[in-house]
Amino acid sequence: MAACVSGSSLEDKLLWETVTQFFEMVPIRKMKWGNYTFEGSELGPEAQKKVLSATITSPLCEKYPPSLTYQRNFVKHFLHKLESCESEVCDEVYEVYSDILNQKEEEDDTLCYKTYTLPSSNTVSLQESVHLVTQGTTGLSTWQAAQNLAEWSIENSEVFQNKKILELGCGLGLTGIVICKYCQPTHFCFTDCHPQVLYLLSKNIELNMLQNNQSETDNTQEDIHLSPININNKNDEKIMRKIRRQLSLSADNNTSNDMTDIIEICLSPSTPPSEESEIMQKDPVEDFADFELYSKSWKKDSESKIATLKKNDKISIAKLDWECFDDSFLKWFCPEVIIAADVVYDTTVIPSLVLVLKKLLSITLENGEKPVAYVASTVRLEDTRDQFLFTLGVQDLHFESLMAPNDDIFHYDRAVPIELLKITAM
Ligand SMILES: C[S@@+](CC[C@H](N)C(=O)[O-])C[C@H]1O[C@@H](n2cnc3c(N)ncnc32)[C@H](O)[C@@H]1O
Repeated sequence: MAACVSGSSLEDKLLWETVTQFFEMVPIRKMKWGNYTFEGSELGPEAQKKVLSATITSPLCEKYPPSLTYQRNFVKHFLHKLESCESEVCDEVYEVYSDILNQKEEEDDTLCYKTYTLPSSNTVSLQESVHLVTQGTTGLSTWQAAQNLAEWSIENSEVFQNKKILELGCGLGLTGIVICKYCQPTHFCFTDCHPQVLYLLSKNIELNMLQNNQSETDNTQEDIHLSPININNKNDEKIMRKIRRQLSLSADNNTSNDMTDIIEICLSPSTPPSEESEIMQKDPVEDFADFELYSKSWKKDSESKIATLKKNDKISIAKLDWECFDDSFLKWFCPEVIIAADVVYDTTVIPSLVLVLKKLLSITLENGEKPVAYVASTVRLEDTRDQFLFTLGVQDLHFESLMAPNDDIFHYDRAVPIELLKITAM
């Protein structure tokens, strides 16, 4: 991506803005087209071709495609803008539009890639659901507070450097992956309660932490055709098909399916299934403590508490449900820093979330200090926020509000306030 838009001219900067928004899948109606006037020579045929080759027809789009619907809307909107300004539209724009309309929509086009561009043209590509809430969870897409906390982490990397970190309700992993890439923690443990979230999270971590940490500029055509979805065995393929099917079912019915449908994916039998065997039907409750990923990339600790990335033993995943957790896991892992983003939205789970925070923040570390938590919340409802603050007080937890990050890296909706709290035990 950077190859197509690097440079310092105004046109290149505008193009960069458009391209980064496209790959983050910023809703078309909210997309800022900068000062592109779409008139006359401002966006003439050459510039139009540049927009296409940096977005829809780029190698990055082939490798990590935004949803087909989004791509269609993007080209349609682009064409519409050009036509309404009576600009001369180059043939390529019509060709790409017609090609993309003719592309057959996958029956289960429910997952897509969002690519977040970071400083120095690094990118994080995440596989996400096209819907904000599916399968009874909010964890299958990346929320504003995760992006905000990631921005803050880059500016305050010393908070995380050489620290053992645990993330609560991590969702698909953007904040944690950014911290691992920019802040050199000694260990980062991603936790969530939802099986599908944990599965996609594991794939996203593999995608971003096992591959070469080069910018897309350096990708050769050969790289691009290697492993588009990072699926490493037949079992993975089967799981992905199942997730897609369930997501499309739940989108069609507009209901949240019983999430136990998919739970066998993450909770493994004691030996992994053979590649050809069916995914085993297990009682999720029986297997509750036995979280393991069906992937050669992860190894499980002897007590089944945590799965660690084999090629990078500083990264692990654990299943942690605030409403039903094992104290011994918290004491055993003993994080120095706890983070969480967009986890304060459901008043019914606030007491259990705060209880987990209380337990974690009360542990005395080897150096005699206490851990610190950083919680970023989108303040959608004042009442929910007030209840969270009240519950922190009830648990004798101290909080202070921190300054927002200075630099806007991502393109999330900044109209709704995001509050970042530093929380400690009194
Ligand atoms: C709004 S999403 C935020 C995800 C991610 N942190 C982000 O900001 O993109 C809330 C996350 O909290 C997780 N969650 C909800 N209830 C939970 C519980 N009781 N225990 C653990 N995680 C929970 C969900 O699975 C989901 O991933």
